[in-house]
Parts: sequence; C-alpha cells; structure tokens
Amino acid sequence: KLQLRTKEIGQEILLFDSVDSTNNYSKKIAKDAIHGTVVIGEEQTGGRGRLGRNWSSPKGEGIWMSIILKPSIPPTEGMKMTQIAAASVCKAIREAAGVEGYIKWPNDIVVGGKKVCGILTEMAGELNKIDYLIVGIGINVNNQSFPEEFKDIATSLTIEKGKKIDRKTLIACILKEFETLYQHYIDRRTLDETLEIIRLYSAVLGKTVRIIKGEQELKGRVLEINDEGLLKVQLEDGKEELLVSGEVSIRSE
Ligand code: BTN
Repeated sequence: KLQLRTKEIGQEILLFDSVDSTNNYSKKIAKDAIHGTVVIGEEQTGGRGRLGRNWSSPKGEGIWMSIILKPSIPPTEGMKMTQIAAASVCKAIREAAGVEGYIKWPNDIVVGGKKVCGILTEMAGELNKIDYLIVGIGINVNNQSFPEEFKDIATSLTIEKGKKIDRKTLIACILKEFETLYQHYIDRRTLDETLEIIRLYSAVLGKTVRIIKGEQELKGRVLEINDEGLLKVQLEDGKEELLVSGEVSIRSE
C-alpha cells in the first residue's frame, strides 16, 4: 500500500504484475479514467521509449508507471507535462533516495552522465483541446547491472547509492512533487516553479552539446532554458536557435 499525500494524482491506482506498456494500457482506458489515474507495471513486456525505441523494463527492478491527466489546456502546452514530470522525479530521487540526479532537457534524468530515468509523454485530442495526456515515467531503481550495450549509458539508483531503494516511498514522493508542480502550473499558467528546479539541476545549461534533429546533427552551447521551457542554444556559426522538445535529442559532446 502506498502512503499517498496527494489529492488527485494517484487516487486511482492500477497495478499489474505484467503489462505490455503502461502507456499503452493507459491509452486504452483513458477515456473512462478519472484525472490523475496512475498505471503501474511490475514488468513491461513491450516498454516504449522516445523516438520509437524500446524501453527495457525488467520485473521488480524499476518504476514503470504512467499518469493519466485531463487538463483543459491547448495541445501546444502538452509537452510542459514532460518538464513537470522531470522536475518531480529529479526532486524526488534526491529527497527519497539521496541520489544526485540532473535533468538532461527535456526528459531524461542522469547521474554521472548515465541515464536513470526517461519520460514519454503522449496525448490525444483535437486542434484546440486535449482529451487526455499520458505521462510515462521509467526509472531504473534496483537494477544491479545492465547488459553490455547499455553499461556506459544507463545506471540505476541502487548502483549509484550502493543500497536497495524502496520503490513505494519513491512513487509516493514523485506523485506528491508532481501534483504540487502540476497544480501550480494549472492555477497560474506558469512553469516558473518547475523551471526553477530544471535550471537548478540542469545537466545541459552552459554546456556544449550535440543536437540530433532527424538526420541532422549540430553542435551548440546551451544558453538558457526560457520561460516557456524551450532550450536556447548558440550554434557553431554563432546563430541562436530555440529548440522544442519532441523534435530533438541532446547528447553530451
Ligand atoms: C525515453 O527515455 O525514451 C522514455 C522512456 C519512457 C519509459 C516509460 S516506462 C513507463 C511508460 N510506459 C512505456 O512503455 N514507456 C514509459
């Protein structure tokens, strides 16, 4: 049982021993689900990552969960939920697991340059109204090791901390942080509280990064994360560009 301290997020929780993908399942039930419903899988057999990648989700080793949201906001604002989620997870793993994670804009949490969490936000709706949003969060919690091909790019909270981390406490903490930041955004229509965290714990601000945009690869220095949550970079030719999440993937140099 989770010790929840939230009002809406997680008031309905669906827990599966095994599920193909909590995002897929959420999509199936979203129409009838109440706002804030959380879907959790002990294991995912078809976990999905961004850009059509797979997301490895072994049994009991991580937090594989999705939050169903039904806000009255235009679709153009939807991706802000990714940033709210990233800020919540980053704060929660610091508080509940004592791991110093950093946010790799827009949707990864890294520790020592290796990925510990990824976020996949998906939405459905029309041109000017969202029907629902699904925020999928995948955190490597108790993995002791990773397959050879992931060793240099992935890590888990247990590996970083050197001890087992309680997933229930962490989930409760993430949902609480998420609700606080989400509600602030909904009430005031500003991402300021979220961005404060994203800037404070940014893994990319001030750094030179590689920007992968489809087939294209550019190099640039990250100047700022603006008030809309967009990444402002200065490219090698001196030109400045604003990057929108969803279109790009950022790698360290
Ligand atoms: C990424 O970094 O590419 C995003 C990974 C998102 C993984 C989570 S795990 C829970 C939810 N269900 C999925 O199938 N994917 C997300």
